[in-house]
Amino acid sequence: MTAAPRTTGSGTSRPAASPDVPPARAGRAEAARFVAARTVPGFARPRAMRAYAATLRALRARHGGAPVLVRGLSGTVLVLLDPQDMRQFYAEPVSCPAPDAQDPQAPQDPPDRPDPPDPHKSLIRRDHERREEQRRINDQVLAAGAPVHPSCGPFLGVIAEEARHLTAADTLRLARARSAVARTGRRIVLGDAAAGDEELAGWLSRLRGAGNWPGLRKARGRAARTVYDRTTARIAEYAARAEPHTLVGRARGHADPAGQACHWLLAMDTVPGTLLRTLLLLGAHPAEQDTAAAEARAAGARAGGAALGELPRLRACVRESLRLYPVVPDLIRVTRAETEWRGVRYPAGTSVLLPALFHQRDPEHVPAAHVFVPGRWTTPGADRDIRMAPFSHGAGRCPGDQLGLLVTAALCAEVLRGHRVAGGRPVLDPPGPLPATLDPQGIRLTLTRR
Ligand code: HEM
Repeated sequence: MTAAPRTTGSGTSRPAASPDVPPARAGRAEAARFVAARTVPGFARPRAMRAYAATLRALRARHGGAPVLVRGLSGTVLVLLDPQDMRQFYAEPVSCPAPDAQDPQAPQDPPDRPDPPDPHKSLIRRDHERREEQRRINDQVLAAGAPVHPSCGPFLGVIAEEARHLTAADTLRLARARSAVARTGRRIVLGDAAAGDEELAGWLSRLRGAGNWPGLRKARGRAARTVYDRTTARIAEYAARAEPHTLVGRARGHADPAGQACHWLLAMDTVPGTLLRTLLLLGAHPAEQDTAAAEARAAGARAGGAALGELPRLRACVRESLRLYPVVPDLIRVTRAETEWRGVRYPAGTSVLLPALFHQRDPEHVPAAHVFVPGRWTTPGADRDIRMAPFSHGAGRCPGDQLGLLVTAALCAEVLRGHRVAGGRPVLDPPGPLPATLDPQGIRLTLTRR
């Protein structure tokens, strides 16, 4: 999958395309709705997202499911509207040279990246060779594909301690979740010595900001570089004395462990919002919450709590929350060679966009698309169903998927073992349809003791 550049896409077994087959194109009004869904501020976004989904469905119907070129604010993208094109997308090489890719540390922006920002943005798009090398390190250190990370024992100990902050008050909001997760992340990535390093937390948040404001990115490039240098220097200090079970300890001997650790710390930002959304959804589904709490209690009681690393039901709840509210709602690849999609050829350098959120919630292909149904993730192979991509697929699949699930599910379990989510804001309607977006800033969870 991380193949060398190809002269055609993976559809090479199809009949040769006629060079003059014209591509399908979206009209101006459709393009405007496409852009709006990715740029409007929070309060207007649910409506914009509904209009966006309706537009994509209408385009699919009009063009018989063929990919459609849409003109956005920062260029034209080829949007994949039919699940049958997904396999080819995931087979594309992941390297995505962007116009300003000369600086390997420069965060890269897909076209019209929606706000709120995607904390994974700085992780996923690098020049090819560098990415291949990083991928090897990521796979090994993060134990990609292993359901339970080799450092699960010490990680669960950290999670149990830090989760106490989550239940320290009757109401759980984003600020508290962020702080508990950031401490957890620093201890998992760098070791206990880094737990309270708020200065490092501040630098990371500046780096995140620098990567997420496309317009200001260039202007801020130098300042961000200085912050990046300070951050990696501090990380290197921790790395020198980190316990072997930490991620940076496991990365010892590899190239640039400090740079990698910086990415892992940023990647932990995916957890607080996912945690709050999952708990809010469980609060609205009491029977599901009881099942999850029973699993958490049983796992905590077994073999000193090691089973808290597995938690299949809670992991299914986290996956389902990510299906409804993905961290990365759009996946993007920039082709490295000419590709062919449904008989139409596109030159190298074409931006191809897979609107993952649209597909994951597409009522034409996903049963109960707008309803919380964790059970759909418990059937064998559900994780490989390419219509669902909370962690992507193929060569670009998240190497931290299992670690992210482990941390999020174990934090949920720690909350649910002693507490019940008795209410929450916004109020959700269990039979659905669930809202198109769920801004974690607006989530308030009411916790009561069990
Ligand atoms: C709930 C948590 C998480 C979610 C939903 C998530 C989601 C994703 C997705 C969708 C991608 C691929 C994007 C694409 O195909 O273009 C990705 C990539 C990546 N993720 Fe995660 N992730 C999570 C947690 C983590 C954690 C905890 C780490 C590390 C500590 C991590 C590290 C990475 C890295 C390094 C990449 C880039 C992989 C590459 O370029 O090959 N992720 N993540």
